[in-house]
Amino acid sequence: MIQKPKGTKDILPGDSYKWQYVEEKAKEILENYGFKEIRVPVFEQTELFERGVGDTTDVVQKEMYTFLDKGERSITLRPEGTAGVVRAYIENGMASLPSPIKMWYMMPMYRYENVQKGRYREFRQIGAEIIGTASYEADVELIAMANETIKKFNIPGVTLNINSIGCPTCRAKYQEALKEFIGKNLDQYCDTCKTRFEKNPMRILDCKERKCKELNQGAPVILDYLCEECSTHFENVKKSLQFLNIPYVIDAGIVRGLDYYTKTVFEFVSETEGYTVLAGGRYDGLVEELGGQKTEAIGFAMGEDRLIDIFEKYAKEEIKDTTPDLYIAYIGEIAKQESMNLAFELRNRGIYVETDICGRSMKASLKYADKMNCRYLLVIGEEEVNTKQAKLKDMKTGEEKEIKLDIESIIENAK
Ligand code: HAM
Repeated sequence: MIQKPKGTKDILPGDSYKWQYVEEKAKEILENYGFKEIRVPVFEQTELFERGVGDTTDVVQKEMYTFLDKGERSITLRPEGTAGVVRAYIENGMASLPSPIKMWYMMPMYRYENVQKGRYREFRQIGAEIIGTASYEADVELIAMANETIKKFNIPGVTLNINSIGCPTCRAKYQEALKEFIGKNLDQYCDTCKTRFEKNPMRILDCKERKCKELNQGAPVILDYLCEECSTHFENVKKSLQFLNIPYVIDAGIVRGLDYYTKTVFEFVSETEGYTVLAGGRYDGLVEELGGQKTEAIGFAMGEDRLIDIFEKYAKEEIKDTTPDLYIAYIGEIAKQESMNLAFELRNRGIYVETDICGRSMKASLKYADKMNCRYLLVIGEEEVNTKQAKLKDMKTGEEKEIKLDIESIIENAK
């Protein structure tokens, strides 16, 4: 038997309603904040991610699904959404639209990860990007929206961690200090860290190797090196979050695994599950890096698979799959025609109706209606068709009543 690739999942009909629930609720919040949907290709030119996400990141160096297409072009399945969204922003001249542009997406992403709890190779993100504003109010609005989303799903034990990783000006000084610190023990770091030392020493702080993590203890923190502008920006973000009563923890250790980040970065971490549910930050240099005008931006992405895992565990009662409003059971040819006709009309009127399409006996039909948790049951034979009267059974209470066999009467009684 052919099996699905490692790190992927089938979302089956018995589960898809949970995904739909999360997506609908998230969409409601995103749209109330003025975000509009964007859809970008599943695959892009590899160079987009090398330049956008950064060629010294784990994502680019170790995790991308890259291949040559039949025209010998290097193509990569998107490992994240921001680079593609920014490419679309530039390519479609969106800079000329009223600014800022607020966009959301729900898209599958692909990373060749070590598969474990909450870490998949195909996973879905719900993301939001605000492109075209440098002001701290955008950071606050976005973090507040992320916070509302997490609250909406009643996820317990989630902490908001924030940090500022500065701009290229403050980072230059910081990187010097960091290199001095790491340089003393460089020979003990892993090979990947050694290769990142010259080009991007901050990446070393993101290394997942135990030994490197230990060596990083006591490393200088970027917060001590922020320039005045970055420092004021961060202070304003913190003050506004306090004002909005959004609790946060400053975590000077957050550097984030993607190179485009500047200034504010944040993560919503589930303490109970031990992983990040939602993460993001400012990326003021990315639009320019990818060929656009200097345009500041900020965004986040929420791991939908992780959200569903947690949500299922803690909020079992919250969501239910839809069940049929009505089952129409019939006996005989004439009643079958009538049932099909009624089902067709009722569905057109927005009622969820089931009727037999498998040639079941009456007994089997009733059993099926019960298994499907149908709310009402209508039984029709030739007599019911002729007299235009039929019995409607409330499957919850067992109560039966005689109703007129027409659309209006069924709608009125079966609700
Ligand atoms: P990221 O931190 O790489 O950021 O991913 C965001 C979220 O996606 C993570 O916090 C996690 O919930 C989920 N996620 C990441 N990798 C996996 C995986 N292998 N399996 C399951 N879930 C995963 C970004 O992708 C940025 N583009 C976010 C952003 C948008 N920053 C600015 N705008």
